[in-house]
Amino acid sequence: MRFVPIDQLEPGMRLGRKIINESRTCMLARGMELKDMHILRLKSHGYTGAYISDKFSAEVEYVEAVSEETFDMGVKAVAENNVGDLLQIAGRIVDEIARLETVSMDLLDLRSFDDYTYHHSVNVAVYATAVGSKMELSDEELQDLTVAALCHDLGKSRISPEIINKKERLTDEEYEEIKRHPQYGFEMLQSHAEIKSVVRQAVIFHHENENGSGYPYGKSGSDIPLFARIIHAVDVYDALTSKRSYKEPYSSADALAYMDGGKGILFDPSVVEAMEKVIPAYLPGIDVLLSNGERALVLSQGSHSLRPVVKIYASGQTVNLSTDPAYESVVIVASGMAGEGGQVQKLNEDRGKAPESKEMRQILVVDDSAISRAQTKNILGKEYMVIALENAVACAHYIAVKGCPDLLIMDIDMPVVSGVAAVENLRNKGYKDLKVMFLTGVSDRETVLRCRRVGAIDYILKPANPVYLLERVKVAFKESRDVY
Ligand SMILES: [Fe+2]
Ligand SMILES: [Fe+2]
Repeated sequence: MRFVPIDQLEPGMRLGRKIINESRTCMLARGMELKDMHILRLKSHGYTGAYISDKFSAEVEYVEAVSEETFDMGVKAVAENNVGDLLQIAGRIVDEIARLETVSMDLLDLRSFDDYTYHHSVNVAVYATAVGSKMELSDEELQDLTVAALCHDLGKSRISPEIINKKERLTDEEYEEIKRHPQYGFEMLQSHAEIKSVVRQAVIFHHENENGSGYPYGKSGSDIPLFARIIHAVDVYDALTSKRSYKEPYSSADALAYMDGGKGILFDPSVVEAMEKVIPAYLPGIDVLLSNGERALVLSQGSHSLRPVVKIYASGQTVNLSTDPAYESVVIVASGMAGEGGQVQKLNEDRGKAPESKEMRQILVVDDSAISRAQTKNILGKEYMVIALENAVACAHYIAVKGCPDLLIMDIDMPVVSGVAAVENLRNKGYKDLKVMFLTGVSDRETVLRCRRVGAIDYILKPANPVYLLERVKVAFKESRDVY
């Protein structure tokens, strides 16, 4: 079977998997032939597509990471804050995941749910278990990790649903309230003697970042417990790949690119590496466009997550992109489409749209390299007004005349005045609230600390990964939620 985006579904196609509705009962059965009214119904329920079975894609089988029964039990137990049941469900998840090489998300679930937190918690548990098992944790550790993952957002149940489900931009106070959920979750688990302290620790630290820029305590590196580091990374991956009422989903490949960009800054590199092994960038059953112009269907993950085994539409030939010498220099340039254009590309365009009409925010980019300036402008220019300058002196002059931009993106290693010194000067001149992000090739510890001392909100390594840079700018403007 293969995944066909909603706008390319046609009457006469046969469903390769049953489709379930919000209450998880069967809406359309596997094997049935689609009619116009079914396609309309799928559209009105917010489905992004459906799995279709046909001769060409007969080899692709969707393997559920966990059984439907376990998933449903997990969703229910999380919704009811039923800690006793969660312990038991964690055991089931560990048993079911242990035999899998990779876990992929179910593209049929790419809808926005009102009960997002419950589905999300079970997804996070599934990914965390797979990553933990790749990292060779013991059975007992895996069980504890999975319990912690199921419980990681329990504290959100103490926050008002109006804030959690708000479509509009959150106020600063609302953000602060949401950021209390790790602490709330920790407190809720304290009354449960059967919950181990390692589980509570993982819950309270699941939003800490590798470089100390997370919350609630700003812990860094190995001071953050391993379970929390694992849950943090898979939590962000699931948030990025989910459709929410206020955003379109990332493709798996883009979400993994984000994880890669955040390696060593937000995430433990060894956790990201394990994720890259167990979560396919290109999911079996989706279409990809190759750089030689051929269209192909992904059959399975090869030995390299970015180079799966595919079947070429025109020739019917099966190619392992990791090993086939004829395809050595061929790369995947787009994914997700079944016809012209492409679903993922389309999703990316939707995601790029501003959620509400607003004045374009202004970003000042200071970098001595013309190539870097052009790249940054290229990545951010569609959504923001980008002004690029080549040195700190021009930057100081610009700000003195025009006032503060909404964000300053600063290189560090520049002739005459370094980026850090330039920001220090600006702070001394009274620009205390100016948002500053460093974009640099320098990453030694001393420099990172100096950046933090001058009040930088973020630190991004060059060459900038486009997905990562754009999302971090959204985080800086609080346009992105769940991903921090
Ligand atoms: Fe969380
Ligand atoms: Fe979460």
